[in-house]
Amino acid sequence: MQYRNFGLVNTIEPLKSALRGGFAIPAFNAYNMETITAIISAARLTHSPVIIAISESALKYMGADMLIGMISGAKITPNERIALHLDHGSSVESCMRAIDIGFSSVMLDFSKYDFDDNMTATSDIAKYAHARDVSVESELGQLSGIEDENTHNTKSTYTDPESVAEFVKHTKTDSLAVAIGTSHGAYKRKSPDEKLRFDILQQIQEQIPYTPLVLHGASSIPEFLVNEINEFGGNIKNAMGITPEQLIFAATKTNICKINIDSDLRLATTAAIRKYLSQHPENINPREYLSAGHDMVRNTCIFLIREIFHSNDKI
Ligand code: G3H
Ligand code: 13P
Ligand code: ZN
Repeated sequence: MQYRNFGLVNTIEPLKSALRGGFAIPAFNAYNMETITAIISAARLTHSPVIIAISESALKYMGADMLIGMISGAKITPNERIALHLDHGSSVESCMRAIDIGFSSVMLDFSKYDFDDNMTATSDIAKYAHARDVSVESELGQLSGIEDENTHNTKSTYTDPESVAEFVKHTKTDSLAVAIGTSHGAYKRKSPDEKLRFDILQQIQEQIPYTPLVLHGASSIPEFLVNEINEFGGNIKNAMGITPEQLIFAATKTNICKINIDSDLRLATTAAIRKYLSQHPENINPREYLSAGHDMVRNTCIFLIREIFHSNDKI
């Protein structure tokens, strides 16, 4: 089923407007009804474009029919500029399937393969996607971080600025994810002094000034959420994210046009549900504690949209 039937848009125009306008489009990871509705509510309340990012494992968890049923039930309209994006697609076939069921954008993550294989596979999916007016994201360089089976990676390699122009020209990718020191999950830095490599980003931008760039692994891991989880029975140690200052710089002063957030929303859900259950030990009604999780995710998205991405009031 084609994505336009669900009122979705692809990411080409939203990313271009972010490139021109000095802000970034949020890509929030979703995996159930609460996260999908929280993300859409946050976008509607702030008048922000948004990308609903679905990993392969989240797609497996929900099932394609259930996901599309929820998206259809959200009654999205094209002027809201909401995209449904496959995050870290692991094969050309997986991206094709996502396009066929109604995704408006796909990422083919061949960053762990060699340059030529990445280029060939990305060109293949770009041809398939563009014939259907679907946008394509690809990646050069590798993020570290262990979050799930698809993004499990223990080594990192910064994106080589010398390789990006050839890659973009040959593949016709619509956006490019870059590795400049971020990583997936809640443990991004060992010390507060570790900084993103904006010098490498600058060199990349000089080579491909018109290509929207993407920052994965960009959660800021808010201390108050970690503290709340620990206060109400959790055990999260030494978690550290990207500083808000660096994220704001990336969103407003560089060609980073899409910023991916998953871990912050996981923390928000977990903190709110732990707190609710701890403060209401008699409660056995999932609608109540799941609502607490939903509201905290929505509020976290609103905060990030307004204070970090500056994508509010852009529609
Ligand atoms: O970057 C990857 C996402 O955080 C996806 O994680 O596959 O566990 O949903 P997941
Ligand atoms: P975080 O783990 O920093 O939220 O990264 C999410 C991500 O990159 C999803 O693709
Ligand atoms: Zn990612």
